[in-house]
Amino acid sequence: MVIPRLIEHKRDGRALAPEQWASLIAEYVAGKVPDYQMSALLMAVYFRGLGPAELAALTDAMIASGDRLSFDGHPVPVADKHSTGGVGDKVSLLLAPMVASCGVAVPMMSGRGLGHTGGTLDKLESIPGFRTDLSLHQARAQIDRLGCAMLGQTPEIAPADKRLYALRDVTGTVESIPLIAASIMSKKLAEGLNGLVLDVKTGSGAFLTDQALAVELARTMIGLGEARGCPTVALLTAMDRPLGRACGNALEVEEAIEGLRGSGPADLMEVTYALAAEMLVLVGAAPDGAAARRALEESVASGRALETFAHVVEAQGGNPALVDDPAVLPQARAVEVYRADRSGVVERVQPRRIGRAIVELGGGRAAVEDAVDPTVGFVITVKPGDAVRAGEPIASVFARDAAGVALGISALGEAVTIGERGELTPLISQRITARGAEPFSGAD
Ligand code: URA
Repeated sequence: MVIPRLIEHKRDGRALAPEQWASLIAEYVAGKVPDYQMSALLMAVYFRGLGPAELAALTDAMIASGDRLSFDGHPVPVADKHSTGGVGDKVSLLLAPMVASCGVAVPMMSGRGLGHTGGTLDKLESIPGFRTDLSLHQARAQIDRLGCAMLGQTPEIAPADKRLYALRDVTGTVESIPLIAASIMSKKLAEGLNGLVLDVKTGSGAFLTDQALAVELARTMIGLGEARGCPTVALLTAMDRPLGRACGNALEVEEAIEGLRGSGPADLMEVTYALAAEMLVLVGAAPDGAAARRALEESVASGRALETFAHVVEAQGGNPALVDDPAVLPQARAVEVYRADRSGVVERVQPRRIGRAIVELGGGRAAVEDAVDPTVGFVITVKPGDAVRAGEPIASVFARDAAGVALGISALGEAVTIGERGELTPLISQRITARGAEPFSGAD
């Protein structure tokens, strides 16, 4: 294979053959294609896109670069959820134990924070002792026992994606719909699922801020899933404000536990129930959305979902006492209340600014090797459209020291704007299936 010819071909807008994608990815993973050539090819894909046959071949080659979980003969269906990333998005922490306690196995494979968005692995690792580096064998054994494991992308799963993603991150080629779709779906399809639900974020705090592009991404991923025997559904959810109140790793774990106790913020509970209900219906564990919702609410009200979470925490090395005592989590050294600077209506709570501030406070990474401070972040108790009075407490900053508090207060001043009128956009706007997009009204 002469790589420069392939690059020129793609650069000039022509399609590579499926066999060319297969050998290219296999040779790249084997170390026979240098990063500089792959970078050039990725940039050509960024500008020229991929045809359907090319996208399918790239995704299949990425899956084939590693192992797959197999649940053949498993006594219960297997499902997972993936979010395209946001601020305050701790849905996975609640959803996995809720769905598992309704009789669906959940191999929840998650990522780390990326840019201004938080990552489920960083949140889980704020629990002292919690290990996310399970092997596929360990994950499978835990799923057999508890119905759920929460792990990172193991070296065995889609290693081509791991390398390509790292390369895209430093070559300006992340924001490409076919590359994002192949990356996400190669990992998810390697989990051997019976169903996948996608939480595609839209709005100023999402990676794809434009709603039409978010829908295109959802459709592309659904097409890949369905063609590989994995029924896939997407919900388009709002990321023009943070989800829930807590933003920051340990703070979000604490809020997720409140949610598992049934007392989480309404928006967080709504998105979690909606995605979880889709999972139950998709794999036949509930006849319709209403029945799924009832089963999920019961899993919370009975304490089974919280108990499953405690078992998972214990199995993965954390202290399960956490579910009754949030003081098990590391605590910020400096905390300060933020008050409304005028009376009026909250116009905006900008998630991107909040996410960037968490990184600046040390709660996210500026470089891959950076350690993350689990204690820092924000609790923001207002949403767009809320009326506030001057001097009313509307948020708190959690930081390492006084300088961090000052940075956090200043970020809140930029992120939260109070004016004459504000409006909350719909939390869940569309439901997208292989049949097309429709306004969201609950799982079928
Ligand atoms: N998440 C992924 O796993 N891959 C992407 O390309 C973007 C977000």
